[in-house]
Amino acid sequence: MTVHLEPWGEGDLPLLRRTLGDPEMTKYLGGPESEEKLADRQQRFERLTETGDGRMFKIVDDETGAPAGSVGYWKREWGGEEIYETGWLVLPEFQGRGVATEATRQVISTARADGGPGRMHAFPGVENAASNAICRRLGFNLAGEIEFEYPPGSTMRCNDWWLDIL
Ligand SMILES: CC(C)(COP(=O)(O)OP(=O)(O)OC[C@H]1O[C@@H](n2cnc3c(N)ncnc32)[C@H](O)[C@@H]1OP(=O)(O)O)[C@@H](O)C(=O)NCCC(=O)NCCS
Repeated sequence: MTVHLEPWGEGDLPLLRRTLGDPEMTKYLGGPESEEKLADRQQRFERLTETGDGRMFKIVDDETGAPAGSVGYWKREWGGEEIYETGWLVLPEFQGRGVATEATRQVISTARADGGPGRMHAFPGVENAASNAICRRLGFNLAGEIEFEYPPGSTMRCNDWWLDIL
């Protein structure tokens, strides 16, 4: 199947509920967010592009127009430098068909066109086999395992993958 990316929009809160609000989808991400947090996140996703801090996208099935998941990147400080962090979620009915890999490939191109920061990191949980496979397949370099603070206030064991995009 083929997919394209559309900027996160006003009507995308239901997709957020099915991704970051869902217990199974967030089993490697510290568990589902509350309705209040999701509403707050929806606002931030809608505004991310205009703040210049990154971009969030809805992954859309080319054939049906159905939402398949989310992917994006946002600036953060890492090791004393400004980098992009990236992350992705694909709905269960679309998993296992290369959607996350293709969507992440597209998002890397978009970040490259934005002109900086020049390095992108991803921090999948060490047990998240599919996400670690995506990083490997797309040419990210494995820096090693780290204790990563997510969600805020708790830590999880993650791999630190990086890719120079510029
Ligand atoms: C992780 C996730 C995005 C993968 O989406 P997807 O569209 O199914 O991924 P793809 O089909 O592009 O597959 C990517 C790779 O993972 C592998 N893979 C897929 N599901 C897997 C699984 N359950 N176990 C092990 N490997 C798996 C695929 O074989 C592929 O590897 P390959 O390129 O070496 O063949 C999706 O499962 C998801 O949203 N999970 C919940 C949220 C999450 O964990 N997000 C990531 C946070 S970093």
